[in-house]
Amino acid sequence: MHIPSSSSMMRLSLGLAVAVFAMGGTSRYLPTAPALVERGASTGECTRDSMTALVTEILDSMVAHNPYTLPMATSYVATENSHAAAVGMMTSWRTITKAGPPSLLAIDTTNCTAYFALDISEGNDAVQNVLRGRIAVVDQMITEMELFINRNRGDHGFSFSAEELPTNYAALMSPPANRTNPSRETLWELSQALFAVSSSFEVDVADDCQFTELGWRVIDPGPDGNGSTTPLGCNWPSSHPTDENARVALVIDEELGFVLTSGIVPGKVYGYGNVSAFIPNTMTDAQEAQQVWWTAKEAEGTMPLLYPTGSTGDTLEVLQYYNGELQAMQINVYLSGPNMTSVWL
Ligand SMILES: *[C@@H]1O[C@H](CO)[C@@H](O)[C@H](O)[C@H]1NC(C)=O
Ligand SMILES: *[C@@H]1O[C@H](CO)[C@@H](O)[C@H](O)[C@H]1NC(C)=O
Ligand SMILES: *[C@@H]1O[C@H](CO)[C@@H](O)[C@H](O)[C@H]1NC(C)=O
Ligand SMILES: *[C@@H]1O[C@H](CO)[C@@H](O)[C@H](O)[C@H]1NC(C)=O
Ligand SMILES: *[C@@H]1O[C@H](CO)[C@@H](O)[C@H](O)[C@H]1NC(C)=O
Repeated sequence: MHIPSSSSMMRLSLGLAVAVFAMGGTSRYLPTAPALVERGASTGECTRDSMTALVTEILDSMVAHNPYTLPMATSYVATENSHAAAVGMMTSWRTITKAGPPSLLAIDTTNCTAYFALDISEGNDAVQNVLRGRIAVVDQMITEMELFINRNRGDHGFSFSAEELPTNYAALMSPPANRTNPSRETLWELSQALFAVSSSFEVDVADDCQFTELGWRVIDPGPDGNGSTTPLGCNWPSSHPTDENARVALVIDEELGFVLTSGIVPGKVYGYGNVSAFIPNTMTDAQEAQQVWWTAKEAEGTMPLLYPTGSTGDTLEVLQYYNGELQAMQINVYLSGPNMTSVWL
């Protein structure tokens, strides 16, 4: 049996496999949904307070199991875990019993959009899950709502900690007061660069940049479980997942330095020790290394292994950037079958 032993390969194999996403292209909206096209026309109508109040209203309505009081636009687009549904039929309003306030809240007062993430309870309080979502608002009405509930590691392909999420995200919500904030244009360029095939935007990574996937500071112990126990830092490698149709700058929060980007990432889920890891197809070295490990383990025949299986990562990636450096990278993925596309394209 032979496993990849270079430390860079170990990093690519796991967290970073899912980790290193990035972009190109322009946002696209459904041509049949007029509200989406009008989004940019609405200015000066949303403040941090009004968007915070609206997100609170959404979370409260989930706990009350009553979506019908929400200010939904007469024509809205909404998805939960990548598929479309009327809010009245969504799982979130059926199962969530505790939610809020958000641990992370990014607000774009120019475009009237917001992104929130938090740990929630469903059913009882025994186990927490991760809820995250994006909204767009026009004339105080919700025109777009994109929700995800990740309930365990298999939903996205490796890292998960609803328990660590509040502490990790709290640090991001209180950046140093003496920071230098980036311009809106800089955040847009960063978002653009994320899934780009090539980009001239140079990204400097802060030494203490926080890297998480679904709330967890990613530790990659290797497929044999005997590797590193140190959380991985952020990385901005030239070899990363690309998506020409990535949705750029879904939320730009100039005050806290957040920018939200979405990419669709084809890949495979591999047995990785007795868990599994999602590895994007663009990361061919990491996939090949994992295949070598998998084949050797299968030949040994000593443990049950997930067969390498095609999958697609629907990704909402949060970056935080100030002082001219990347300060945080959150790779938030929800997996579906192979060859999947997105409702939002
Ligand atoms: C939102 O913000 C971006 C970046 O500032 C801008 O290019 C875009 O026109 C705005 N409007 C929409 C509808 O995205
Ligand atoms: C902000 O203040 C801290 C001390 O509180 C200092 O170490 C740091 O260098 C300052 N950063 C900037 C960008 O001025
Ligand atoms: C496999 O699962 C067992 C518990 O079922 C755990 O103790 C062990 O550490 C796991 N091994 C690896 C390599 O993750
Ligand atoms: C981890 O375990 C594997 C399989 O037992 C072994 O081949 C490898 O050398 C070990 N790696 C480390 C860093 O100890
Ligand atoms: C569809 O998914 C399968 C399984 O992952 C893959 O082999 C195939 O190349 C994909 N086809 C396209 C057109 O992407």
